[in-house]
Amino acid sequence: MREKINTLLSEVEGFKAENKEQLENFRISLLGSKGKIKGLFADFKNVPNEEKKEVGQLINDLKDKAQDKFDEFKAQIEGAGVNFNNNEQDLSRTPFPLEVGSRHPISIVRNEIIDIFSRIGFTVSEGPEIEDDWHNFSALNFPPEHPARDMQDTFFVKSESGDIALRTHTSSVQVRIMENSKPPIRTLSPGRVYRNEAISARAHCFFHQVEGLYIAEDVSFADLKQTLLYFAKEMFGEETEIRLRPSYFPFTEPSAEMDVSCSVCSGKGCNVCKYTGFLEILGCGMVDPNVLENCGIDSKKYTGFAFGMGIERIAMLKYKVNDLRLYSEGDIRFLEQFKSAL
Ligand code: PHE
Repeated sequence: MREKINTLLSEVEGFKAENKEQLENFRISLLGSKGKIKGLFADFKNVPNEEKKEVGQLINDLKDKAQDKFDEFKAQIEGAGVNFNNNEQDLSRTPFPLEVGSRHPISIVRNEIIDIFSRIGFTVSEGPEIEDDWHNFSALNFPPEHPARDMQDTFFVKSESGDIALRTHTSSVQVRIMENSKPPIRTLSPGRVYRNEAISARAHCFFHQVEGLYIAEDVSFADLKQTLLYFAKEMFGEETEIRLRPSYFPFTEPSAEMDVSCSVCSGKGCNVCKYTGFLEILGCGMVDPNVLENCGIDSKKYTGFAFGMGIERIAMLKYKVNDLRLYSEGDIRFLEQFKSAL
């Protein structure tokens, strides 16, 4: 039996077809319903039980190889203009299986964040990436020459006046929204932002943010906390805990930074969370009344909260990416890993 299989195997391996007749003969003699491989399956019942598994495998391999050979020459002969059916080439035929592309991980995570907040009524707003000083800084309570401007190393477009720059955060979009609409406002501003930083595994000169803004009557810090808790659980899982630490931003008062319990070790401590059990993911706070007034909103009547997060950071945590540069290098080996995340 094994000998028979081996002889047929060399027959298959050595086979070459120059025309469709030879190929059809090959098919009938090996793969056909009265072919040699069918014959092997018929003899199979005589194989001792303990060898059945191995011999069965050999016959199946032989069958696959014969089928591959047939497909290979069929494609070759048809490609050369000899069509089995009508002797014509099908010019619309796909030459090889089409590779389906995938969405970029930054887009996947951005869409997920938007989806989570849209379920509680947030809309999406966009704005320009080249901004003036007013929208990126002054309206947001950064006084001229204030050291807080150094928190965000800025790329200036017109350096003499320092007036036009690449936006350092998408809070600039929120200023535009506040100037142009009346509360209640509940919106997200996703987009690319730029900072003059040396490129490394942990920092890049551009990245992506989603910032959020909610302004209405009687909005409180408790609303902020509950909204962010909802987000953290939706994004990282029901068991996720959050922690707010006091912080400083010129445009919010009070301000905080939010950590989520480490999804890798469930808060027990590991090298991802540097044994703290928590990971920092966003900045937030109550919109400073000065900012509301700068944008024409009555700060006696309305209050609001804002928050902002880096999409790269969330995607790093979600997909365990350890180098920020991977997001912008366009390496197919990296990108095609996100196919199933579509
Ligand atoms: N704009 C801040 C940043 O880019 C993030 C932030 C937004 C913080 C809103 C607080 C409130 O760092």
